[in-house]
Amino acid sequence: MMHEITFFLNEKEVTCKVKPATVLLDLIRDGFELKGTKPGCHEGECGACTVLVNDAPVNSCLFLAVNANGKRITTIEGLTNKDGSLHAVQEVLVESGAVQCGFCTSGMAMSIKAMLHQYESGHHVPGESLKNLPDREEIKKYLEGNLCRCTGYVKIIDAAEKLFAKEV
Ligand code: FES
Ligand code: FES
Repeated sequence: MMHEITFFLNEKEVTCKVKPATVLLDLIRDGFELKGTKPGCHEGECGACTVLVNDAPVNSCLFLAVNANGKRITTIEGLTNKDGSLHAVQEVLVESGAVQCGFCTSGMAMSIKAMLHQYESGHHVPGESLKNLPDREEIKKYLEGNLCRCTGYVKIIDAAEKLFAKEV
């Protein structure tokens, strides 16, 4: 039996029919042809498939598409600025040399964006400095669900640190 769902995908309202067992990763990639979200382990272990559900990072390989109903889903395609330029998260990853094969990069960028959102909404008063900037250990902890086989993580953590420093 198919279920009709309506949700916001990268700020655009969409309606579609999904099977009960369809996962969000497959719906995004195959149903909407958004191939920036990467299929890695399909088991919730690698973070390559990370998207935001109502601003929180989620492994889309484990998230049933029916549960997207009524939610806001953001993929890497939705992170890019409206004029097509890279979002600050993407820019800092590139500038820092944190992208090698790139397979983990979409998921990594979405997790960093989620962390940024969390800090901004939790601690940030517009126009004022962030009170508690995350330190390196906190960044590492936050990103521990995102695996990277290429970089050794140093440049990725550097990138996130730079981003938080820029945002204040
Ligand atoms: S593909 Fe989803 S966590 Fe690895
Ligand atoms: S850049 Fe290759 S897996 Fe991270």
